[in-house]
Amino acid sequence: MPEEILQTHKLLDRCEVELGKRFTVHKLHLADDKEALIRSLAPRVRAIAGGNVGPELMDKLPRLEIIANFGVGYDSIDTAAARARSIRVTNTPNVLNDAVAEITLGLMIALARRIPQADQYVRQGKWPSGNFPLLTEINGKTVGILGLGRIGKEIAVRCQAMKMRVVYHGRHRQPDEPFIYYDKLVDMARDSDWLVLIAPGGKATEKLVSREVLEALGPEGYLVNVARGTLVDEAAMLDLLQSRKLGGAALDVFETEPQVPEGFFALDNVVLSPHQGSATHQTRNKMGDLVVANLVAHFAGEPLPSAVV
Ligand code: GLV
Repeated sequence: MPEEILQTHKLLDRCEVELGKRFTVHKLHLADDKEALIRSLAPRVRAIAGGNVGPELMDKLPRLEIIANFGVGYDSIDTAAARARSIRVTNTPNVLNDAVAEITLGLMIALARRIPQADQYVRQGKWPSGNFPLLTEINGKTVGILGLGRIGKEIAVRCQAMKMRVVYHGRHRQPDEPFIYYDKLVDMARDSDWLVLIAPGGKATEKLVSREVLEALGPEGYLVNVARGTLVDEAAMLDLLQSRKLGGAALDVFETEPQVPEGFFALDNVVLSPHQGSATHQTRNKMGDLVVANLVAHFAGEPLPSAVV
């Protein structure tokens, strides 16, 4: 008999098909009576595919051994609670590094050159009445990266290729990296033209990019967030963008996405994107394969390909 697993939210179609070939999958998000489904599975279910797992759900599934998250960020899983219950947690690192780094550079250039706004300018027939305003370039500028992890490093080399100067802030200095380290985020923001956020979400980093940091980045400064909306004081950011005390922002993630505060829609100094850093066929397929590989390895008693707990 195949193992029964609980899926907590919609996954990529191919991932769902592959899971279905190997396991009996129960879809919590589609259940009319979620509590009844959980109760009925409690004596048997040893694995979850997906995120949004807190201690309550863990306690309702006493045989739970592993949670395989779809995504590199696992802030929707309470890892401390999982650790305390000896539940393993896996994520999908590395396979998305290039895709996220590519969209980061895309957003930077889109913001610097207002590419979405320029597209609208042409479509709305405004070009014959005058040229689009002159803007700025990213070469020669300093980019401060918050979070020089696997994706941060891919962003860094691409920024170097764009002839930018790269500096970074994170919990620790990385002596083998050639970039200048700042131990205070606010200092890095003050010295940077661009601030790129690619650090993990969750309680530990909540609103790390405070009003003070955004003010330090300043009226000529640009913020790019391809990590988690929770990293930024979003209300302060909107206020500073509206009053032009922050130069601009390119945002792929939001505090309560997919809801985006309407105040952003009226601004011409922002570029908005619907959380699509890893949203390509090739990358999402690899992420899905890694979810499956972690679950298969677990039930085969083999080492997990990408465990975080
Ligand atoms: C995307 O946001 C991810 O965490 O993989």
